[in-house]
Amino acid sequence: MIDLHTHLLPNIDDGSSSVEQSVEVLRRMGELGIESVALTPHVTAMELVEGAEGAVQRRDRAFRGLEPAVPSVPKLLLGFEIMLDQPLPALALGDRRLSLNQSRYYLVEFPLGVVTGFATTVLAQIARSGVVPVVAHPERYDECSAAVVRAWREVGAKIQVDGTTLVRPGVRGRRARELVEQGLADFLASDNHGGRRTVATGRAYLEELGHAAVARLLTEENPRAVVEDRHLVPVPPVELKGGVLERIRRLL
Ligand SMILES: [Fe+2]
Repeated sequence: MIDLHTHLLPNIDDGSSSVEQSVEVLRRMGELGIESVALTPHVTAMELVEGAEGAVQRRDRAFRGLEPAVPSVPKLLLGFEIMLDQPLPALALGDRRLSLNQSRYYLVEFPLGVVTGFATTVLAQIARSGVVPVVAHPERYDECSAAVVRAWREVGAKIQVDGTTLVRPGVRGRRARELVEQGLADFLASDNHGGRRTVATGRAYLEELGHAAVARLLTEENPRAVVEDRHLVPVPPVELKGGVLERIRRLL
């Protein structure tokens, strides 16, 4: 598996707060079969108005502090999670140091109260520049629905659903499951902030329901396509029947 969304660079954002904490999380991910992990600290579009130099330097310094202590598996990749508090500045669109592993794919998020019409416009603008925006955890937004996510995909965005949210009760869990059910999620990730969330949870859930091929697409094949800067494979719709959620939650 490959996890393209984590906050495991120590003391750079609201994620892991020490090298030791990050090493422990990474070791566990390695044991669960996660072969590569992207470190994606938060940055805002507003911070990038005059270029990415400051953000990249901060990230690379934190990476140099972590790198000597990490286990050999998982392999570490670099990226950012860009908060679109305003449209992405032109300078940022041309700077692949901001993308996932220097690919065409930029991991982006919106403020929680985002107006989805604004989001669609901003995503379309990014996509027109040749960059592919990947919307992180759309299931968090109250305005998010399958129809909204479909509109985002139509303007060129790709969709990352949180793997652990798939097994959660409540509205976010339901939204996450609906996106996967309708084939609107391109890949899963953990958004681990130094805790226990991993992409393996979503994988186990889908496998338990008999959807091993879709589980592989969402946790291996499409994340690998991002890492290698290739086109993503369409993910077919699946039926997520109830009943196994409780069992999975007990297992993980
Ligand atoms: Fe995140």
